[in-house]
Amino acid sequence: MSEQKLLKAALQAKSKAYAPYSCFYVGAAILDENNNIHNGSNVENSAYPLGVCAEQSAISAMIQGDGSRICKILIVNSGDKTSSPCGGCRQRILEFATENTEVLLCVDGTINQRLRISDLLPFSFNKSYLKDD
Ligand code: THU
Repeated sequence: MSEQKLLKAALQAKSKAYAPYSCFYVGAAILDENNNIHNGSNVENSAYPLGVCAEQSAISAMIQGDGSRICKILIVNSGDKTSSPCGGCRQRILEFATENTEVLLCVDGTINQRLRISDLLPFSFNKSYLKDD
């Protein structure tokens, strides 16, 4: 599956972001273990804490689309500075990640950074503490 397709899906999601308060538009696209792509954007709310992040929306779409593993997640934000997933979204990505999961960070049409979730969230709390894997 080409990363260009993933980028296109993330840009498409970003174009539909609802972010009238921050004016910071984010799109995320996930490639799952079935080679399917799921995307989502941030959706803000006038009651600020109720807004959801793009990564969160894309993960919900993956679950609804019968995916359960994030092989790659590509995130694209507005502006000219490459951002990085918030702490909550790092934990959300980790839930469905494998050792090989790649997190790709983009601005416009360019992939600027390629990370592992363990780079983003070392010493994480994870499901291994709750059950035997
Ligand atoms: N945002 C995301 O969508 N993902 C992140 O990982 C960081 C922040 C959104 C939330 C809010 O709508 C806007 O960016 C500014 O924080």
